Amino acid sequence: MMPSDARRGRVDFIDLAPPPADFGREVTAGLSRPAKALSPKFFYDAEGCRLFEAICEVPEYYLTRAETEILARRACEIAETLGRDLVLIELGSGSSRKTRLLLNALRPHMYMPLDIARDHLAISAASLAAEYPWLEIRAVCVDYSQAFTLPPLQSYARKVAFFPGSSIGNFDPDSAVALLRGVRDAVGRDGGLLIGFDLKKEVEILQRAYNDGQGLTADFNLNLLRRINRELGGDFNVENFRHHAFFNEQRGRIEMHLVSALPQSVEVGGQHFHFDEGESIHTENSYKYSLEDFRAMAVAAGFTPVRNWFDTARRFCVQYLVSGTE
Ligand code: AVJ
Repeated sequence: MMPSDARRGRVDFIDLAPPPADFGREVTAGLSRPAKALSPKFFYDAEGCRLFEAICEVPEYYLTRAETEILARRACEIAETLGRDLVLIELGSGSSRKTRLLLNALRPHMYMPLDIARDHLAISAASLAAEYPWLEIRAVCVDYSQAFTLPPLQSYARKVAFFPGSSIGNFDPDSAVALLRGVRDAVGRDGGLLIGFDLKKEVEILQRAYNDGQGLTADFNLNLLRRINRELGGDFNVENFRHHAFFNEQRGRIEMHLVSALPQSVEVGGQHFHFDEGESIHTENSYKYSLEDFRAMAVAAGFTPVRNWFDTARRFCVQYLVSGTE
């Protein structure tokens, strides 16, 4: 069915009212743990978003370029594999060039971006609506990392989810499987998933991607402390912490930490937190996968991989999976 004229260029906005994260409570809880840790979801304030975009341009950080290369060069093949007349559900707001590459080739029946960030979602959806007047857009404000139910669609519409950026890499294996199972349930028995993930490779290449020469990744990591100072009135002296990123071979992930350069005490929200020299705050995991690693997770979540696309350097994989296990 074609969208009605009244609907063209307009966005249907559905707010499932995800409970907002409590930054202050999560920070004090994370700093009170024996192994201090903060969630990477807090990196992305305005300054963090700006720094992440800059990271995507540095030569060492190949992930975004590799995935964009795949979507640009293989768009037709990807569209043929996914099929026609589908509802494309993006996990994330669809603010990137990658979404446009896919929409151009796929010309889905409907586009449904999902994001917890309400304003960002509304702005991204509005600019897509202006660029794609033929496309029916239904933006859903929801936390897709938690169990969720999508608003009902016409039952004949086949659903395919799109989860780019190796964002899956931020989730520990158990949570990643739970997230993928949630996606499987959302797309249903004849649905699919197009997902981008970063591949295991030489440790040097991985570590350089998170230790760029311009120091943007260090700045991105340290911005979390500046954000705590700005928003929670913390008194972190950022000069006293060092960015540390390394590949944890055993766990198959890049870990980012903020390491205290000296013994010190920091106050946040009226609470004091002591740091020994060399003690760290674990701020991010970024899992890297072999095709076998990823298949095991996919199968555990009720998906079967059907096709892979790689960039020329074979650093990154975009994979299409369908519901059901063989
Ligand atoms: C957005 C989670 C895919 O893990 O590579 C970039 C974030 N952290 N540099 C990643 C990130 C440091 C990025 N993801």
